[in-house]
Order: sequence, then C-alpha cells, then structure tokens
Amino acid sequence: MTRPVVDLTDPDRFVRQEHHAMLAWLRENDPVHWHETGQDGGFWALTGYEEISQVYLDHTGFSSESGPMLGGSFRSEKDPSAGLMMVATDLPRHRMIRQQLHWAFSQDMLRRVAEQVTRLVTTALERALADGGCDFATDVATELPAGAVMAITGVSYRDAHDLIGMTRRMIGFRDPHFTDPAEDERLVLAMTQADIFEFFAEVLRARRKNPGPDLISRLLKAEMNGRAWTEDEILYNCMNIAVGGNETSSYTACSGLEALIGHPGQYAELRQTPGLLDSAVNEILRWSSTNLYVRRGALRDVEIGGRMIRSGDVVTLWNASANRDAKQFTDPETFDLARTPNRHLSYGAGLHRCIGAMLAQTELSVLFRAIAGLPVTAALSGPVQRLRSNFINGTISLPVTFHGRNGTGDRPE
Ligand code: HEM
Repeated sequence: MTRPVVDLTDPDRFVRQEHHAMLAWLRENDPVHWHETGQDGGFWALTGYEEISQVYLDHTGFSSESGPMLGGSFRSEKDPSAGLMMVATDLPRHRMIRQQLHWAFSQDMLRRVAEQVTRLVTTALERALADGGCDFATDVATELPAGAVMAITGVSYRDAHDLIGMTRRMIGFRDPHFTDPAEDERLVLAMTQADIFEFFAEVLRARRKNPGPDLISRLLKAEMNGRAWTEDEILYNCMNIAVGGNETSSYTACSGLEALIGHPGQYAELRQTPGLLDSAVNEILRWSSTNLYVRRGALRDVEIGGRMIRSGDVVTLWNASANRDAKQFTDPETFDLARTPNRHLSYGAGLHRCIGAMLAQTELSVLFRAIAGLPVTAALSGPVQRLRSNFINGTISLPVTFHGRNGTGDRPE
C-alpha cells in the first residue's frame, strides 16, 4: 500500500472519504502515530484495535478532562466542562454523575423511547412512501433522536426538532451547510452551545414550577455528595445527552441505509430474515463508526505499541480504524449483517462507554425493522452529501426513492 497523505485534522479529507485509506495505512504501518500539527506540536493517533482498547481501559493513565474532540490547541488542557459534564470528567466524580443519569437509560425509558420512535418513524416512512421518496437524512433519520429527546426530557415534538437543529449546528460547526464559512468556527461553537444552554434553562424553569416524569425534574431533586445538583451541572449534562445522542443515532441510521442500498444482497437477506436484526444493527454500527475518534490526555508516561506516550500528550483513539482491524475482525472490509462476534468500538469502551448504547440500539432496531418490513426497497435518487467533520461521520443529505417489490434497480454485489 502506498503511503497516502496523512492529515487527520483536515475535514475535507473526511468528506471525500479519504480517511479510510489514511487509517488503513496507519494501522498497517504506524499504529501509534505521532501526528505533527506545526502549531503546538501535535497529537498521537492510535489506529490498532488492541492499542486503542489499552487506552480506553487505562483510567488512571489517561484523562477525559480535555473534552472528547481535538480543539484549537493540541496541549492537554482542561475543557471548561471538566468536572461538570460526564464525558469530560474523570474518576471519582465521573461515577457519581453517571449513577444519577442512569435513570434516563433504564428499561422503562427504553420502552418509552421505543414507543415514541415507532410512532414517528412509521409516520415518516408512510409519508415517504406516499411521496415516492424523501431525503432520508432530514425526513426520517432525525425522528430517532426526536423520539428519544421527547421521552427523556418531556419536551414537545417541535421543541425536540428545534434542539436537534442546534445540536446539528454544534456538531456541524465546520460545515458550510450549517454555518457561514466567514464566521469564526470557535465563535459558532460557543454561540451554539449558549443556545443549547438557553433551551435547557427554559425547560428547567418550567420544570421547577411543574415537575414531570422526565430527567430534568429528576435532577432538580437529586443530590450528589450530599448537596443538590447545581444549575450548571444539570445544563452541561443535558447538553451531553443531547449532543451525544442526536447526531450519532441519526447519522448512523443514514450510513446504515446507504450501506444496505450499496449491498443489495445483504439488504435482501435482512428483508427475508427478521432474526438478523440484532447482528445487522451491530454491523451497521461497526461499518459506519459514526464517532470517528475520541480524545484523551496522558496523565503519566505510558508505553503503547513500543512508543512512549509522555504525560501531558494529547491522544486520539480512532474507533473508525479499530473497527476495520483485521487482527480483530475476519474480512473487516466486508459488510456482513450476520457477523458474530462483533466487538466493535463504535460506543467506545471502559468507564465512558456510551451510556446511551442500549437506547441507540433500540432506536436503530425500530428503524431497521420498519425498513426491512416495507413492501419496497430504497434506492439512491441523488448525490449523497457528507458532513464536513473529522470527528463525526455524518450524512446531511440522503435522497432516496422506493422501488417495487423485487427491488428493481438492485445491482449484484
Ligand atoms: C449510534 C449512536 C451512538 C454512538 C456511535 C455513540 C458513541 C459514543 C462514544 C464513542 C462514546 C464514548 C466517549 C468517550 O469515551 O470519550 C459515547 C459516550 C456517551 N454517549 Fe453516546 N453514542 C451513541 C448514542 C448515544 C445516545 C442515543 C445518547 C443519549 C441519548 C448518548 C449519550 C452519550 C453520553 C452522555 C456519553 C458520555 C458517557 C460517559 O462519559 O460516561 N450516546 N457515545
């Protein structure tokens, strides 16, 4: 394999899907790679499944407190949300926050989310069928987080979609579809975060007066270490759940449908074999690797894969690469809905492993069960538009039409 140009910070390479070649080359040749940035030095990019797992599971050697994303600085600095927002908090505080947020992901909540998402997805698919097609990214996939947000926070359908608009802009802060390229990226990010805070501050005011069976009413009564939660803690963690869940689940839904359309044999299998659904959802998660990487900061010197990572260094864990590692997965470049075992790292691993994983499985299972049960198959009807981001593998437009019973237009694999 010839060495591709490796620049893991350039979002345009991700739009053009060049990251697959970059990550494959690194995994083969330099799985613990020092990525020069020319500014503050650089960061480590880990691409092997084993090396990445080692960091995920070493909670004393690596910190989450510089936030999950590469920022303007490549020094290991604390994010303003460190110690307040679960994803950017280390032990022992992380455990206290997580215990209290678990309610939002209980069996009862999964049932409520399944009901809400089923209702919304059924309506959206019926509308798409009646119209002969739709933009799946905006007309169907966003109904997944809408249902989850409504069930968890008790807000209306319209408010849930307003919130999704904001989280989409936050994750898409480098994409001209969501922001004006003339605007300062950092400023856009800060302003969108302020809008999300204001959204939840308003819900909080309403719940103080009229509590309900929702997460915010619950956090208003909760105690952590013998004191009430501060307003900042509530707002940061509501934002964590919204940003953590809105784009990831809907973008995974888009990648999943696109993969099915691109693999008609697998699509047909799923339609004929309902028992394939669970493994199919996992394969869609592995294949899409929506959260391309997460970030950590080294707290001490640690040797990984023969390289010495120094205390204070920034480290990135490329889930998207671990999920294609041939040492872990047989034929990793094959999209195989029956793949078992399938220990993908799309939800991360260790203490910060996605708290919404079961909720996402629920949303995606509802969606793909409904899609597999349709009397017709989807086909692309226009160009796919990808999110300009090196952090989230997103699809912002996925135009589809629905074909006849035998899926006319299918091409052999
Ligand atoms: C396909 C869907 C999803 C993917 C691919 C995904 C991915 C991830 C990953 C990789 C992490 C680990 C971050 C780290 O280690 O730093 C994470 C954590 C998290 N996710 Fe998800 N996620 C998904 C769905 C959801 C949903 C539906 C929610 C909530 C409704 C959610 C909320 C969170 C939160 C709050 C955390 C932080 C957990 C902690 O720090 O302990 N995610 N997610």
